Amino acid sequence: MPDNPTPLAGCDAPPLNPVATRPDGQGNALETKAGSIGTGQSPLDGFHVTFAPHGARSLAVWLQEHFPGRHPYIFVDQRVASLWGEILDGQGFGDAWIPWDAREDRKRLDTVEHLARAALSRGADRHSVFVAIGGGVTGDVVGFLASIFMRGVPVVQVPTTLLAQVDSCLGGKTGVDLPEGKNLLGTFHHPQAILVDAVFLKTLPAKEWQNGMAEVIKSALLDDGDLMETLESFAQETKGQGISYPLPHKMIEPIVFQSLSLKARHVATDEKDFGVRQFLNLGHTAGHGLEALSGYALPHGHAVALGMRVAVQMGILMGLTNPDLARRLDRILEAYQLPLKTLLAKDANALLRHIQHDKKKGTGGLTWIVPRDVGRMERRTDISDKIFRDALRVIQPNET
Ligand SMILES: NC(=O)c1ccc[n+]([C@@H]2O[C@H](COP(=O)([O-])OP(=O)(O)OC[C@H]3O[C@@H](n4cnc5c(N)ncnc54)[C@H](O)[C@@H]3O)[C@@H](O)[C@H]2O)c1
Ligand SMILES: [Zn+2]
Repeated sequence: MPDNPTPLAGCDAPPLNPVATRPDGQGNALETKAGSIGTGQSPLDGFHVTFAPHGARSLAVWLQEHFPGRHPYIFVDQRVASLWGEILDGQGFGDAWIPWDAREDRKRLDTVEHLARAALSRGADRHSVFVAIGGGVTGDVVGFLASIFMRGVPVVQVPTTLLAQVDSCLGGKTGVDLPEGKNLLGTFHHPQAILVDAVFLKTLPAKEWQNGMAEVIKSALLDDGDLMETLESFAQETKGQGISYPLPHKMIEPIVFQSLSLKARHVATDEKDFGVRQFLNLGHTAGHGLEALSGYALPHGHAVALGMRVAVQMGILMGLTNPDLARRLDRILEAYQLPLKTLLAKDANALLRHIQHDKKKGTGGLTWIVPRDVGRMERRTDISDKIFRDALRVIQPNET
C-alpha cells in the first residue's frame, strides 16, 4: 500500500496534496511524476490516484485505509463482475455488492433511482462511500448518484475500460442521458480517489480498446510530444505484424498515466469547461455529429479519430497547420486500427445539422479545436461552413 496513504475521510476532508502512487511500493516512473497529477489550489486538491496492477484484489483494504469509518457500496458493471469475480469476490462486500446492467441505454434517470433504492435497502446513508467499478457508463451513473444521494456522498472510481482509465474516471463530470441527447442531466462531482488497475484491460474487446486509443491519440496531440513519441515508437517496433490488442503492460502504464496527467492539468485550471478544458474536445465536434448521424452505431473512438482528421484538415486549409501533422496523425490512427474514412461524411448537410444540435455550441457559433502542431491547439468559433465542407472531404471515401 502507499507509504503515505491519504486519509480521505469524506466530502468534508480538508484539501490535501494530490498524489499518484502505486501501492506495490516498487518505486517507478509513475511515482516520480506524481506531481503532475493536479497542481496548486484546484478542484483536484485532495484526491488520490493509485496506479496498481492487481490493486483491485485488495480493494476492500484500500477502501478501508482511504475512507476509515465509511461503509462502501460497490456498484459494479455486471459484465465486469462476471469476468473478474475471481479477484473481486471474497473481499467481504456482502450485501453492499450491487451489480447492474451497465449499458448506454440504461444510463437514465430511472436507473439512478433504482440504484439509489438498492443502496438504501442495504443500509446506505450519508456516511457511506460509493464505489463505481466499470467503464464510463458506470462511472457517470454512479458519480451522478453519489452527487445527489442524501445531498452528496464521496465517490471512488475503479475504471475497467481503457476509455474510463484514460479519460472519464477523472474530471468530475457525471450524468445520464435523455431521449433528446447524451449527458443532458448531470453534475460536477469529483471522485475522492481513483484506483487504476490495468489488469482489467486483459478482457477488453478490441472495439473498446479502439475507443480508448482514440482518446489516447487525442491526448498525444494535446500533450508536449512524449506521448506521441511513445505511441509512434511502439507502432514502429511492431511494424510488419501490426498492433494487436491487448497492448502489452509496458505500453499501458505510460499511456494511461500520461493521458490522465494531461487531463488533470486541463481540469485543474478550468474545472467547469469554459476555457482550456475545451481542448479535450479535440475531434469531438465533428465526432459527436458523426455518432449522432449514424444513430450511435459508429463507435465513439472511430468518430473521434475521424473528427481529429477533419480538425487537422481545417487547420491546413486555413494555413495554420503543417501538412506533416496530418501525415503523422494518419500513420498513428492506422497503426492503432482506427478508421481514416467513413461513408457517413458523404452528406455534409445532414452532418452539419447534427453538429449544430450538439450542446457544445459556443455563443459565437460552433467551437472547434484546431491543432497547429503537437501540443499547440487553437479554439476557434469563426470557422465557416465552407471550410468545414472542404475539410470534410478528407474523410469521404472517394477522396485521397
Ligand atoms: N465523465 C466524463 O468525463 C466522460 C468522458 C468520456 C466519456 N464518458 C462517458 O463514458 C461512456 C463510455 O464509456 P466506456 O466506453 O467505458 O463504456 P461502457 O461503460 O459502456 O463500457 C464499454 C463496454 O465494455 C464492457 N466492459 C467494461 N469493462 C470491461 C472489461 N474489463 N472487460 C471486458 N468488458 C468490459 C462494458 O460492460 C461495456 O459493454 C459514455 O456514456 C460517455 O458519455 C464520460
Ligand atoms: Zn470522447
